[in-house]
Order: sequence, then C-alpha cells, then structure tokens
Amino acid sequence: MSFLVTAKQLYEAPLPASPDGRLSYSSVLLSRLGPNRPDFEARLGRALAAAERRLQACSRDASDPRAAELTGHLTATGGKRLRTLLALLAAEFGDPSREGVVQAAVVAELVHVASLYHDDVVDRAATRHGASTANVLWGNRMAVLGGDWLLARAARLAADLVPGAFSLNADTANRLIAGQLRELAGPAPGEDPVEHYLQVTAGKTAALLAMALGVGALQAGAPEAVADILIEYGEQLGIAFQIADDLLDLSSPDAFTGKERGQDLLAGVPSLPVLLAREDTDPRDAELRELIEAGSAAGADWHLRVLELFPSSRATARAEAIMHQRLARAKGALESLPPLPARRTLDALCDFVAFRTG
Ligand code: IPE
Ligand code: IPE
Ligand code: MG
Ligand code: MG
Repeated sequence: MSFLVTAKQLYEAPLPASPDGRLSYSSVLLSRLGPNRPDFEARLGRALAAAERRLQACSRDASDPRAAELTGHLTATGGKRLRTLLALLAAEFGDPSREGVVQAAVVAELVHVASLYHDDVVDRAATRHGASTANVLWGNRMAVLGGDWLLARAARLAADLVPGAFSLNADTANRLIAGQLRELAGPAPGEDPVEHYLQVTAGKTAALLAMALGVGALQAGAPEAVADILIEYGEQLGIAFQIADDLLDLSSPDAFTGKERGQDLLAGVPSLPVLLAREDTDPRDAELRELIEAGSAAGADWHLRVLELFPSSRATARAEAIMHQRLARAKGALESLPPLPARRTLDALCDFVAFRTG
C-alpha cells in the first residue's frame, strides 16, 4: 500500500521541464520504486546521470548548429528515460561496472527518441514533453530526417557493444519499424483488430523495452538465460505500457503526459480502448460507439463528449484488464531471476505502470 501512495505522488508530479528536472524523473522513479538500498540507488543514480550526459552529447550534430537544434530537440525537452533505467537495472544482473553499460543504455534511449520523431509525423502530433514537436517546428521532412540521424547515431554507438547486444539492437530497429508499418497498413481483411493491435504493439513498443533490458544485461555479462528472462519481462511490460499510454491519451491532464489529451483520438489513432469501444455491443455504451464511428461528422466538439464517456465505459475496463494481464505475466517472468534489489524495482515498475492509469 505504501508503494501506491508514493506512485500516486509521482503520478501527480507534472513532467519536469528544466534540464535538472529532466534528469530527476527517472532518478525520482528509482528512489520511489527502489528497495531502499542506498548503495544500489547511489550506483544507479550515478549511471543515470552519466547516461544523461552522454545522451545529450550524442543527440546533437556537432557539425552544424541548425541540425544540432533539430536532432537535440526531443532530448532537450524531456522524457522519462525509462529505457535508460531498464537497461541499467538489467545490467545489475551482471557486472554493472563493465565498459559499455552506459553506452548500451544510451543506444536504447536514442532509438526510442528517434522513433518519437517519426511517430509524431505519423500521428500528426503537435505536442510532446509539453513543447511543440519537431514536425511542427521544422516540418515533416526535417522531422523524419532528424529521427533518421538519431537512428544512425544509435547504430554507430551499438557497433562498440558486445555482439549479442549489437545484433539485438539491429533486430529491434527492424521490429520497431515493421510494427509501425503494420499499424499504418491496418488489419488485413478478416483479421481481428485487437489481435492486430497486440502484434503492432509488440513491435512498435514492447520490442524496444525488451531490447533495453537485453542490451543492458548482455553488455554487463549477465548469463544469456537471465537476459532472456529480462527480455520476456520487457515484452510483457511493453504491451502493458502501450495500453497504459493509450488510456492516458483519453484520461490524463496534459501536464502529466506532456501531450495533449485526446491527441490520438482526434488523429484517428487506433488505440486499444478505441478499438474495444468500436466492437462493444453493450447498449449502455451505444453513444460512445456512435460518436467514435461518426468522428467530426458528429459535430466540432465530438471528442469532448467521447473523453467524458470513456472513463466509465466497458472499453476502458476491458483495456485495463488486458493491461493487468500483461503486467501479471511480466511479474511472473521476474520470479525466476535472482532476488537482487533490481528485481524488486522491476516488479514495482509494473505497479507504477498500472497506477499511472488509475
Ligand atoms: C512514449 O514513450 C511512446 C510509447 C511507447 C507510448 P514514453 O512515455 O516512455 O516517452 P518519453 O521517453 O517519456 O518521452
Ligand atoms: C508509441 O506510439 C510507439 C512509438 C513511438 C514507436 P504512440 O503513438 O502511442 O506514442 P505517443 O503516445 O505518441 O508517445
Ligand atoms: Mg504517437
Ligand atoms: Mg500514445
């Protein structure tokens, strides 16, 4: 219970915008979720700070100040650094002081940030981290190239990693893009839209969380069997994390996510709660279903009513149930890991993901 109280405090804290605040989000997360072991927290805190410095340096193109502004934009405006934290926690199952561990964490974060540049173009998003997106500031073409530049930078840094981590990064970039392509293509005729969503999500979101854990563990020399368990945990956590993110689009204040509430809904992004609302047949949710089907044809403020109806809908309850199922699987995977402080933090992270949407 005490964990829930602290997670609630974290939930209520707005996304930090200042450079110092930016760093503190994952440190705060760690201290809130940490098993109260000062040595563990101090070590992780130092590694997070080192990864942050490296990330900031690596995401700016030093050869051209204008390109530097574009490629450094999304790391400068914020982010939770969840993939960094996952990589560093996974490294605890090997020797976290091994060379390249921080670099492995930075690779995972860079790939993530690159994917956000592309995602904001695809989703026509105007706001991220409480700031204008790169596509709004520089246009779609520059934003896509900014993301490409960061992916290329990540690939360069990954070349220094141990072979297992190197190939995991390459395979993940493929899965990520394939997931986004599949999302844009939509379900094949006759394909169940929810099944399609889960496959898209496994690629576009879960693969990257799993990769962060995998590269952290492998670079730290953890046994392969341990890395595989961490990867499986990441696959399950990742799906739950995306469902939570989808739910937050419909429920959370802008100050918490740094994105506009209803941004996905308005752009027609097929999020899980929207898909579930579409296929629901309960007469109590008929108004919600009809509004979603009609979209703007139902009037200029259609989405405001949809946002009002969602929290008490069956679609929200079903999406939450699927999220909890995945979180339970993630926790189950952890059971076969050695009982290190990092394992407790990874377990608490599952509760945090669930709590954010509560
Ligand atoms: C956003 O991820 C994209 C999703 C997978 C939902 P985060 O919510 O971790 O984004 P940042 O890193 O904090 O900006
Ligand atoms: C997240 O998709 C996956 C990637 C960024 C590849 P979303 O579209 O849900 O992410 P947000 O909500 O814009 O952060
Ligand atoms: Mg998006
Ligand atoms: Mg989203």
